[in-house]
Amino acid sequence: MPKENDGHISGMPLSGAYRALEINSFVLDYKQIYLREVLNIEEPPCDLFILREGLPYRLHEKNLALNNQTVRDWVEAGITKIFVKTIDHKILISKQNENLRSNTRSLSIGDPFEKSRRQTSLLASHLKFFYEDTTNDELLNLLYQSVRSYAHFLMDHMKIHHMTYTDFSRQKHHYIHSQPVLSSLFLIGVLKQARIFNDKDIENFFVTSFFKDVGMSCIPFEKYAQKELNLNDKKLLVNHAQNSASILLNRIPISTNCFKIIENHHIFSTLTRELEHFTPESSQQLIMGIETVLISITDIIAAMISERPYRPATSLFQSLDLIRELISNQHPQEFKLLISYFKNYFSKNKAN
Ligand SMILES: [Fe+2]
Repeated sequence: MPKENDGHISGMPLSGAYRALEINSFVLDYKQIYLREVLNIEEPPCDLFILREGLPYRLHEKNLALNNQTVRDWVEAGITKIFVKTIDHKILISKQNENLRSNTRSLSIGDPFEKSRRQTSLLASHLKFFYEDTTNDELLNLLYQSVRSYAHFLMDHMKIHHMTYTDFSRQKHHYIHSQPVLSSLFLIGVLKQARIFNDKDIENFFVTSFFKDVGMSCIPFEKYAQKELNLNDKKLLVNHAQNSASILLNRIPISTNCFKIIENHHIFSTLTRELEHFTPESSQQLIMGIETVLISITDIIAAMISERPYRPATSLFQSLDLIRELISNQHPQEFKLLISYFKNYFSKNKAN
């Protein structure tokens, strides 16, 4: 593996002051990214680095071929975070923008599962890019168009939903970037099974579900790994729904109803109730229809059955038991639909 700073770090030890200067310079000159952010880039347009003894070593040279298997091997070897030079980060994002644009345009060509796994990976990475740059209209528009097209692709390929879910879960994106993808993947299956929505409605609700959490970008990243949150942190977390709507307002063409759904998508969450943003009575008044219930509940199920840094995943049975408590009295039809969909979905999983 070639080293970036051969003359400085091999051989004689550095003096404390000089080393401090080098480390300060490193913090300014390099940006840490997830290794999975370079997945699907055949020839990375910039050098990739790992950190050793506080200084960068080149892991991969720019413009050299890099296949996804090599990236997976690195992950297996324990490398999950890498560094790029800060000035190169935009070039890397541009390359991934091209990849997402190209995969979206060619979704109907080739192996549907390969297209789907690539699309989920690119969408999660692009959510990260967007969370870091929420005023970027070009990026938002690319995401919006890509999510719309993916909704229609998923409607046409119901048989690959489960394979996509399994593969995407293994990609282990950070949960704030994976949760919108997973919950929307569940949602589209549930909406199709309901047989009361046309394709345009399903597309709109899929888009709504995908973008409902962009307000998470307003929360300091370290909060997402904390088990115990103080009252202010909890308020910040609950307010992400309102922040999502504020970030998206007048920027993506979704209906007023969809904005209401985004604002209220945590209506059933225990944290929302704990902070008394909604009493049970007022929360019922806010529900606009079956789509609100389905978007909120698929979000809860996707979250519960996925591991978090501060808790293990719960079983599907436990998540459905909670759903029964939350909606079986007020929304019996939606409850039956969800139970039927998820039991069928995961019993197929056991058979495979
Ligand atoms: Fe949310």
